[in-house]
Amino acid sequence: MYKMQTFSSKVKGSVRISGSKNATLPIIVAALLNKGRTYLKNIPKITDVDNLLAVIKKIGCRVKFKSHHVLIESDLKYQDLLFEELKKFRASYYFMGLFLALFKEVKIYAPGGCQIGNRPINYHLEGFKLAGVDVVEDNQIVHLKANKLQPFTYSLPKKSLGATVNLLLLASKIDGISTIENASTEPEVDDLINFMNFLNIKVTRFQNMIIIEGKKQINLNVSYSVMPDRIEAMTYLMLGVFSERIKIKQINLLHLEKPLMLLKQAGLNCKFGRRQIIVYRSRLKPIQLISGDYPEISTDQMPLFYPIYSRMEGVSYFTEMIFDNRFHVVKELQKTNADIIVIDKTVCITGKNNLIGNDLVATDLRAAASLLLEAIINGDSTVTNLFYLERGYDDIYNKLRKLGVVFKVIKRV
Ligand code: EPU
Repeated sequence: MYKMQTFSSKVKGSVRISGSKNATLPIIVAALLNKGRTYLKNIPKITDVDNLLAVIKKIGCRVKFKSHHVLIESDLKYQDLLFEELKKFRASYYFMGLFLALFKEVKIYAPGGCQIGNRPINYHLEGFKLAGVDVVEDNQIVHLKANKLQPFTYSLPKKSLGATVNLLLLASKIDGISTIENASTEPEVDDLINFMNFLNIKVTRFQNMIIIEGKKQINLNVSYSVMPDRIEAMTYLMLGVFSERIKIKQINLLHLEKPLMLLKQAGLNCKFGRRQIIVYRSRLKPIQLISGDYPEISTDQMPLFYPIYSRMEGVSYFTEMIFDNRFHVVKELQKTNADIIVIDKTVCITGKNNLIGNDLVATDLRAAASLLLEAIINGDSTVTNLFYLERGYDDIYNKLRKLGVVFKVIKRV
């Protein structure tokens, strides 16, 4: 049992957004391409990062993680990666691209991660094959091996963040020019591309196409600061709609352009600053949102809107286009008496008053964030399975306390 109980609270104050989880994970893995010292700044203290760094230490790298800074010194030797820890998080599959680049071989468990629908890795494997990799999958173990890696051109059947990252890692040391077409356009991928350029690997994006010129030896001392987490920013922004005032600092407004534009049109009461936004209590008009590849609304942001719109007048629609089963949270929100249902791929919400508190059970990271918002706004609920939240939200309990949220965390074995 690991849960949070919320009480009625008056939310007001400011919050500083941490580094992005989905940019940090690939950048940490890419740091292992470098034989020199890599100093990464703005790293969130979350369990996905802790798990990744634990694995990196276990395979022989030196790692120091303090005050959101990580120092990595890598001197990897080939070894099979059949560690249970790697089953715990999705980004473990970045070791495929990394180990192929470094050793032309990897043996690893198929990746874990949040249960938000079918999450195959067929695009990753198709891309690897084009570079000359033999793929053997046997009972949850993936064995990849190449005699020689060759430059490749792969057009992703559908934009995939994970496959784009894996193919960037793979191409990083291949002699010659590799091309990823229909590549992911998410800002987290561009952050990785920037970092790779810091490592002197020449990576260029032309809209949906990414061109990589591999570099055999990388031995540099580099320092890099990871981009802010746009999903964390959106979480506090949604809380802001039910607060007196929240100042959300250290954000990149450009990464939030589409949702902010639509929310502004719907009546969001806010003020923009250079790297910050101040959100005031707002009454929002009904909205229709469709998730999509960046710059569209991110699939990760969608569940954050549900508790807010459960209380706004009118009928709103949220269509999920990326994952095929990201709707477990809807059943939990129904426990509050909210008028929320799923029709095909669309969550339909009719706003109402008098929602009731209840015991809400998180089933994945963004569901946990959605239920957390619900519980705070309601002021008389519990949220169970907080470990999902800790996978992706840095310093969440302190940040909430500073904003005046009243809650207690209950740990009972
Ligand atoms: N897909 C395939 N085959 C593949 C790869 C992807 O069919 O080989 C499909 C997926 O099933 C999905 C779509 O392509 O329908 C996009 O998936 P993508 O590969 O982009 O997702 P991912 O890399 O597994 C990352 C984030 C997710 C985020 C998605 C979408 C990490 C560790 N995870 O997942 O983050 O939702 O991109 O932007 O970066 C989260 O932070 O809560 C989270 C789930």
